[in-house]
Amino acid sequence: MKICMIGTGYVGLVVGACLAEMGHEVICVDNNPAKISALLNGQLPIYEPGLERLVERNVLESRLSFSLDISESVAQSQFIFIAVGTPPAEDGSADLTYVMKAVEQIGASIRDYAIVITKSTVPIGSSERIRGIIEEQLKNRGLTDLEFDIVSNPEFLREGAAVNDFLNPNRIVVGSSNPRALAYMEKLYLPLTSKGFPIVHMDIASAELAKYASNAMLATRISFMNEMAGICEAVGADIERVRQGMELDHRIGSYFLSAGVGYGGSCFPKDVRAIIQSATERNIPTHILEAVDKVNHKQKQKLFEMVVGHFGEDLKGLRLAVWGLSFKPETDDIREAPSIETIEQLRKRGVQIHVHDPVALQNAYQALGEENIKYFTGPYQALMDADALLIFTEWKQYRSADLGRIKSLLKQPVLFDGRNLFNPYMMKEEGFVYQSIGRMK
Ligand SMILES: NC(=O)c1ccc[n+]([C@@H]2O[C@H](COP(=O)([O-])OP(=O)(O)OC[C@H]3O[C@@H](n4cnc5c(N)ncnc54)[C@H](O)[C@@H]3O)[C@@H](O)[C@H]2O)c1
Repeated sequence: MKICMIGTGYVGLVVGACLAEMGHEVICVDNNPAKISALLNGQLPIYEPGLERLVERNVLESRLSFSLDISESVAQSQFIFIAVGTPPAEDGSADLTYVMKAVEQIGASIRDYAIVITKSTVPIGSSERIRGIIEEQLKNRGLTDLEFDIVSNPEFLREGAAVNDFLNPNRIVVGSSNPRALAYMEKLYLPLTSKGFPIVHMDIASAELAKYASNAMLATRISFMNEMAGICEAVGADIERVRQGMELDHRIGSYFLSAGVGYGGSCFPKDVRAIIQSATERNIPTHILEAVDKVNHKQKQKLFEMVVGHFGEDLKGLRLAVWGLSFKPETDDIREAPSIETIEQLRKRGVQIHVHDPVALQNAYQALGEENIKYFTGPYQALMDADALLIFTEWKQYRSADLGRIKSLLKQPVLFDGRNLFNPYMMKEEGFVYQSIGRMK
């Protein structure tokens, strides 16, 4: 089956490569020439475990190709996925500029019956707007008889485990009320459903909302635990023990119950704000979602507050080491990462910052530049002569770090741990001033 993937970012590239792996013929298109030329030269523009080999194999076997030519790629394909970004607008709503631009290009280019599928996370009602734009374009081209269907097929993959998530999904959500479109989508996903992975059909609006509701639920669990962590600190309890006491309850389960420095990334923050905005436009109150967002904003301040609490308001001349820049491990994505916000705050106060991350240094350099920041490819190099270490991301290598080495390299044995990687008792024994989230100092 011939597929065109419009937008070759974190989602488009993974989904395109995985659909090719499932046996389909996929053209991934993007309007960023640097991205496409890197891919044509065999270089991946993102870090995602397992993706490089998948892309390499499917390109070699001629199922996966890359192009800048959106019109021609759309014209050749029966399934047209939209996987462009939907960043937050000023008011928090999803900015659909990229989606609508892609839709115009689709309307201007389709030649035969096609299924237009939204993979991008779009607010309720977007698919109907998309239908209207394509109909208008076809009318302008004198092609009112050309048939097409719109399907909402939201993506639930997690960065850092994206390939595995797509090829082994908990569920495939397909939104459409048209039996013809549903039949085509079932055929498309047959390689997965034949292995037992479930496909769930629903109307378009429910599919669009299922994506927002899922992300909002996960964000809620994180903010809930961060609020509990604050209570733990006040009453002398330990959030890690509290979590263990909760997660064995099957009604609660163990996922997304870790306290930390708040959620980041390109999805949770923007999707929570977008659903608040969608509800507000319809005069529906969103007490829970607003609280989730507010708690997260506060939590992202945590390590900055620890630094000020320990060193005082005047931070000028301090040198701090930062381990972990990406919003979570196994990705180079730094969008809305708590590390970036805190580094900005610290350097405004005259702090020199030494940063390390296993894969996100390049993205961080592009976002932060050189002012008061030095980038290190080795974690221990970043510690030299630093007054304290701040940890933002739970990369495995940090968890198993040599505490003696950390202590010998830092000017003072001070560690602010935003991911609760170490045991507070052990850290005290090792002679560290150690602060973490929701546990004793
Ligand atoms: N990143 C995730 O983990 C994730 C998971 C599920 C859903 N989503 C959703 O998927 C969508 C894409 O997210 P992403 O993280 O892949 O974004 P991204 O920014 O990494 O990728 C988007 C790509 O689209 C390209 N693009 C924009 N307009 C285009 C056009 N008119 N024609 C061709 N290419 C165009 C951009 O150049 C970019 O490469 C968003 O709506 C996001 O909310 C993301």
